[in-house]
Amino acid sequence: MSHMHILVYDNTCPRRTGVQHTIQDGSLTVHPILLSEDSSFGAEVYGVDWSNPVPANIVTKLIALQDKYGVLIFRKTGLDNSRHILFSQQLGDKLEVNPFFYGRENDRLGEPLLFDVANIELDGSLVKMDSRRYHHSLGNALWHTDSSYHQQRSKYSILLSHGNPVEGGSWTHFADTRRAYSDLPQTKKDEIENFVIEHDLWHSRKLASPAVFGNPLPHELAAKPPAYHRLVQTAPDGRKTLYLAAHARRIVGKDIEESQRLIWELIDHCTQSKYVFSMEWLYGGDMVCQSMHRANPYTATMTARDVRRSTIFDDGPWAFGVLKDQVK
Ligand SMILES: [Fe+2]
Repeated sequence: MSHMHILVYDNTCPRRTGVQHTIQDGSLTVHPILLSEDSSFGAEVYGVDWSNPVPANIVTKLIALQDKYGVLIFRKTGLDNSRHILFSQQLGDKLEVNPFFYGRENDRLGEPLLFDVANIELDGSLVKMDSRRYHHSLGNALWHTDSSYHQQRSKYSILLSHGNPVEGGSWTHFADTRRAYSDLPQTKKDEIENFVIEHDLWHSRKLASPAVFGNPLPHELAAKPPAYHRLVQTAPDGRKTLYLAAHARRIVGKDIEESQRLIWELIDHCTQSKYVFSMEWLYGGDMVCQSMHRANPYTATMTARDVRRSTIFDDGPWAFGVLKDQVK
């Protein structure tokens, strides 16, 4: 723990100690973050020229690296909103559109293809701790996978920082669900192989802030109904992985209590420190393409963090999950 309210796991990026591994891949320099015998998780990538549209052959390489490492970190990209969106569109045809729950005019960015995940209000002040927006943000500090509550789930979620983060002030944490799955005992793998999970945005909001999101507003509920996805999936690199986190409300066919016990048993398994690293936001323009993660919670002592997100819909074999008419 580097600060009273800031959680940092044992493994960090940038690496505080030890040897930095380096792989040269053409013009790209790759520093893997969590290395294990049979796999690696997370990598910092240098050598992309962000001042121009990224060439197709580099995009192809980045997708291969993303499939291998699960989380890619780029430093000081210098991308603005429109180039953030353009790069996202190079990774997939369709981006998620911001529902602007609280009005587009109240959104700091007002850009339908970006999500404002900063802790900053329209007037530049830090978010007020009694606001609905503040309470909505609390769910982001739970372990989650962006947009798992959509029936067409996302393939990539790209966070980009603006301004100048305060060193030691802002971290995002990532969990290696592939290695966590691989380490499960065979009996557990057999038990969960065919589970289908109901994912619901309002479930995670309620968990994080029962007082405010115990009963979401009708327009909130209507905008984000639940979605159904298989728990055990095959990652793009061919290894099996677990698709779950705080949006996971129920295992189809089981009651809520038993579902939540099993779901959090698995989340706790996946988020042991040996599977997790903490990425520090160091510079404006830092960008990450990510997997299961959590933010540090907003606190009374937080510093400004101006992070914006784009989300690219999945178009692969797992994109549409399990359709509702197949769910009991
Ligand atoms: Fe997120």
